[in-house]
Amino acid sequence: MESIWYLCFVVILVMVLSVESQLTTGFYSYSCPEAEEVVRSTVESYFNMDSTIAAALLRLHFHDCFVQGCDGSVLISGSSAERNAVQNSGLRGFEVIDDAKTQLEALCPDVVSCADILALAARDAVELSYGPSWDVPTGRRDGRVSSSSEASNLPSPLDSIAVQRQKFAAKGLDDKDLVTLVGAHTIGQTDCAFVSYRLYNFTTTGNSDPSINQSFLAQLQSLCPNNGDPSKHVALDTDSQTEFDVSFFKNLREGKGVLESDQRLWEDSATGYVVQKYAGNIIGLLGLRFDYEFPKAMIKMSGIEVKTGTDGEIRKTCSSFN
Ligand code: HEM
Repeated sequence: MESIWYLCFVVILVMVLSVESQLTTGFYSYSCPEAEEVVRSTVESYFNMDSTIAAALLRLHFHDCFVQGCDGSVLISGSSAERNAVQNSGLRGFEVIDDAKTQLEALCPDVVSCADILALAARDAVELSYGPSWDVPTGRRDGRVSSSSEASNLPSPLDSIAVQRQKFAAKGLDDKDLVTLVGAHTIGQTDCAFVSYRLYNFTTTGNSDPSINQSFLAQLQSLCPNNGDPSKHVALDTDSQTEFDVSFFKNLREGKGVLESDQRLWEDSATGYVVQKYAGNIIGLLGLRFDYEFPKAMIKMSGIEVKTGTDGEIRKTCSSFN
């Protein structure tokens, strides 16, 4: 009996190691040594013109990974492509990835994948927003499929905790990963369309969502007036939209979550425990720290269903298949 358990352990270990060893840090050290620097300087130059681009790039990578794996499928243009699904309607930052790719094709043609550029740009975006940095395992190849009908995997701001949990679990991500990754909402903004229904006519009762802090409700109502103005946006972390910090979690604890799905993370005991830990993030204290956990969770997310070796292709242009 003992030997069967041992055998199972070895098989599982080999499976885990083989998945992780598909990507390696410094994959382009010999084939394109400037690759990471080119991505970094490109992201930085756009960031210096408009710091909100950081949030856009981080979200772009997440939306790429949840559909067909992290394979650049979200970058393909075309009316039936993934990028045109309703779930992807607010995505921004495509021009940054295209720009980095153009420079890399001039330096080392057919070497650096668009999927890797996305993963590197997400890391650089976080670092530029005063967040943590990490070594990004690279070696992803670009996919050959991009279909808007597959974007239903993506979470919706109306999803309950059970649905959020199930969508993340389907990608190998647990409760802690869910809370940690959604912590990306410490930067960026949302269209008022994803917020207004909570403010004026929640579940058609004519009231507001009772989980919203009362003073915050007035603030949100002034940011998103009840006139359906499509140009209005609101920060996902109303305390510091461009800083990668823990105020997003502190806000959830106080009923100041902007998206319904974010606020639900505080109400569930398992996810709420993680929110509580991150909200109390004090440098030097032991326990869960958002700035330690975020890089680990990102490396996990960036490894979802990646294509490596001879799978897929290295696109010449990120917005179209070869
Ligand atoms: C349950 C999971 C999630 C839901 C329901 C969700 C939903 C949303 C929604 C509705 C927006 C506003 C979009 C718009 O107005 O166009 C948004 C923005 C954003 N999301 Fe998420 N998200 C989730 C998880 C994540 C994850 C895992 C990441 C990254 C690791 C992420 C990163 C972002 C960022 C950075 C923005 C701001 C984008 C910008 O300013 O352009 N989100 N999210």
